[in-house]
This record gives sequence, structure tokens and C-alpha cells, in this order.
Amino acid sequence: MPTRHPQLNAHGELKHLLTIEGLSRDLIHHILDTAAGFLGVSDREVKKVPLLRGVSVFNLFFENSTRTRTTFEIAAKRLSADVVNLNINTSSTAKGESLLDTIDNLVAMHADMFVVRHAQSGAPFLIAEHVDRTRGNVHVINAGDGRHAHPTQGLLDVYTIRHFKKDFTSLRVAIVGDVLHSRVARSDIHALTTLGVPEVRVIGPRTLIPGGLEQMGVHVFHDMREGLRGVDVIIMLRLQSERMRGALLPSAQEYFKHYGLTEEKLALANPDCIVMHPGPMNRGVEIDSAVADGPQAVILDQVTFGIAVRMAVMSLLAKS
Ligand code: CP
Repeated sequence: MPTRHPQLNAHGELKHLLTIEGLSRDLIHHILDTAAGFLGVSDREVKKVPLLRGVSVFNLFFENSTRTRTTFEIAAKRLSADVVNLNINTSSTAKGESLLDTIDNLVAMHADMFVVRHAQSGAPFLIAEHVDRTRGNVHVINAGDGRHAHPTQGLLDVYTIRHFKKDFTSLRVAIVGDVLHSRVARSDIHALTTLGVPEVRVIGPRTLIPGGLEQMGVHVFHDMREGLRGVDVIIMLRLQSERMRGALLPSAQEYFKHYGLTEEKLALANPDCIVMHPGPMNRGVEIDSAVADGPQAVILDQVTFGIAVRMAVMSLLAKS
């Protein structure tokens, strides 16, 4: 008998969102279609609906965040949920309480959904397994775990691409930079290949590109100019200096020279290529301000779409 994916219930519905790996193309499109339904005709306003009235969403961010934490909070409030933001610095985990003891206490306060960011890869999986064993009706969303996965970022990235490019099946997408430490890159690669993008490229220095990417259906380039030729979408990545051990790069200036996105390098891509970045951006290190603020950048659209995508994920989980 095949083993069930830990994020699906016995009916194959999404109970937790832990990773994009293993999600079907249909399910990803269903999430994106649901998100589209939450956006107004202008694609900038996000509707308020009562779908999560009486549901308590707990934001547990054990790592810093601006976009993810705030857009989850906005999304939960747009769904009429009650939102609790746990201050991790003053919570009992800072006094030595175990993660799972903290979870048990929050469940005793009637938490229905946890949104978890943690520096340790696998922490949201651990919580999901624990609540499945101890409480059947609590949902867990991975808001970024170590270098492993950032599934709602992957979903909002493919939402943005679908919005601007309409179809995935004739695209060339380049992901540029520190792939080795990037949970965003891993989630994007799973989403893009599942949705049928025929050519996913990763571009970066040898020290920041992990092995095994070709087995994921990805083409690896170390020369940025070569890798950008003819692409339709560029996803720039942040240098994850907090996750680097040892000297993997000569200097920020040297990195920018070879892998920073400038107008001159962007001109090698297709003329209607869009430029994305998950944020936070290091201007002058990964991306030049002229590009980040230029007409091809859709970086702030990604943030707005992130609200609707997170609403879609929470509303689908609450139904399972
Ligand atoms: N993209 C992203 O995860 O940004 P934050 O760290 O600000 O949440």
C-alpha cells in the first residue's frame, strides 16, 4: 500500500501545507484559482470574506520576517479569523521549553492553525506529525524552514508568473544566485517543474549551487550572461549569509560583478521578461536598483499576490 504524504488527509485533501514537493499539478492550479477568486477586478484589492470566522490562527515565527508574517496576518484577517502573533523572544521557548510543549500549550488555548517559520529544516513537519498524533483537527503551514522549503512563496511565485505570462508550457525561467541555501529556490523548482515549465535554469557560482539539480530537471549555468539568454522570467535570490558557513564568496562586489542583475545583463533576456525577487533584497549585491525599480520588475506584485495565495491555502486547509 502506498504511504500517504504527511500533508494530505485520508481523502487526499491538503490538511497541512509543508512542501510543494509531491503536490499534483491539479492541486497547485486549484490553489492558484482559489487565490484569483480572492482578488478584486483590479488585482490589487483583496476581498474580505467570513470563511474562517471562529478559527484561531497562530503565527509562530522563530526567524525574522517582514513579508511572510505580515501577509499571513492580513490574509487570516481578510478571512475573518482570529490571529495571534506569538512573540518568540518573550515566549517560554526562550526559557528552554521544548517546541512541542509550546505547541501543546497553544493547542490547549484552542489554536486551529499554526503558521510556522523556523531555522531548522523539518520543524513544521515535526509539529504536523505531533498534532496529527495528539489532536486530529489542527493545521500546520510551513512559512519557511531552514534551507528546505517555503511553499507559500513558491505558490505566490507561480501565481505571479501565471498572472503575467498566462501559460507555463512555453516558458524559460532562470533562478539566479544562492541556490544552495535557498528554500525559495527548492520550492520554486518543484512548483515550476510540476506545472510543466519546459526549461528551468539555475545560475550561480559553483560554491552556491548544490549537486543533484539535473535530476530535478534543471539546467545549471555558472555564466550568468549565458544563462539569461532568451529567458522569460528571472527569479533573483537573496544571498543567505546567515546560513553560510565559511567563505563561499570572495566579496559582495565580486558577486555583484558576476551574478548581480543589471540592466545590461537583463537585456540578454527576452524583451518582455519579468524580474522577480522574494525579498528582502540586497540592492547592489544581487540586483541593481535600476532593475529592482524598473518597468520589468514585478517584485511588489509578488507581495500583493502573496496575500491572496495565503488566503487560498488557509481556506482550503480549513475545509479538509
Ligand atoms: N520572502 C520572504 O520570505 O520574506 P520575509 O523573510 O520578509 O518573510
